[in-house]
Amino acid sequence: MISELIETLSAQRDLNDAQLKALLETDRMDEALFFNADQKRREIYGTDVYIRGLIEFTNYCQNNCYYCGIRRDNAKAARYRLSKKEILDCCAEGYALGFRTFVLQGGEDPYFTDARVCEIVSEIRSCYPNCAITLSIGEKSRESYQAFFDAGANRYLLRHETANEQHYRKLHPGSMSLQNRKRCLYDLKDIGYQVGSGFMVGSPYQTTENLIEDLRFLQELQPAMIEIGPYITHTETPFAAFASGSLALTLRLIAVLRLMFPYALIPATTALGTIHPQGRELGLKAGANVVMPNLSPVRVRKLYDLYDNKICTGEESAQCRGCLESRVRSAGYKIVTSIGNPAEEKESC
Ligand code: SAM
Ligand code: FES
Repeated sequence: MISELIETLSAQRDLNDAQLKALLETDRMDEALFFNADQKRREIYGTDVYIRGLIEFTNYCQNNCYYCGIRRDNAKAARYRLSKKEILDCCAEGYALGFRTFVLQGGEDPYFTDARVCEIVSEIRSCYPNCAITLSIGEKSRESYQAFFDAGANRYLLRHETANEQHYRKLHPGSMSLQNRKRCLYDLKDIGYQVGSGFMVGSPYQTTENLIEDLRFLQELQPAMIEIGPYITHTETPFAAFASGSLALTLRLIAVLRLMFPYALIPATTALGTIHPQGRELGLKAGANVVMPNLSPVRVRKLYDLYDNKICTGEESAQCRGCLESRVRSAGYKIVTSIGNPAEEKESC
């Protein structure tokens, strides 16, 4: 029965809700599921793994998401911001190491006005015309997104976090809304960004039905990148007493995503590497094809403290790059120096 579901999903890229529920709630056929997902990624991407250089440039945030270690009300978080020069230095180091995508991620920090963001983006754009610039700085107005795009940003990462209204309310304070999150994602797409979205696996109160709604929302949005990782507890949040998400379910979802969205870019995330020493390698073997090593200066790495025991906080960028290179190789894939656009599906006649 489960093996039939895997074959149907591989061939048709979809299952009905009851079938998805059955597949997500059993570990009986995980090996077959991972095998099919890996076959699919090899058909489209071969063994290539794309790298994105992550620059965590501010941990100030005006939001108060209940799960997040850098939320506004965490008074114990030591706050930092990188200067424009420090950000450009990270890009220079990253470029020399073979990165062709820079991801500028941060909390929603009012210091970084649209004018400041545009100034940074346009300077990176003029130094690296052949690179992708990804922003991941949260919810903004359409006008702001347009201004960043005009300044040279061409990708945007904004996880929807959960596509279910009630679940969204349990994870976020009343000042935030799922409706606005979705509005942002559609605005970004409409403007012309390559959009990345996604969710945490095993976040507090999440049900299998919620996960299925997440998959349905992604089918509607059709993002270029789908980023999922396990929820990991942070002791200084209102969710301190909740358990972290599981490796097994995260891997199963990566494989399901690869079969539902064969052309998507799917990262093996740092959170996955945090809950298991080989988490990222296992993620690649389950269908992921992107890794996102850290390019932030070592002095701030520990401060971008989204969840407990986050890995890769002590190494220099070159060490991180080297470590991931050998991890990717040991899993049977290879890192490529490429801007790493999503593969395009050929029209069938
Ligand atoms: N402010 C931007 C935003 O809202 O998209 C980017 C920064 S935010 C910290 C990046 C992502 O970290 C979030 O989308 C969330 O899914 C993830 N995250 C936050 N807290 C987490 C936790 N405790 N465990 C796992 N992932 C977490
Ligand atoms: Fe703003 Fe997490 S609450 S980045």
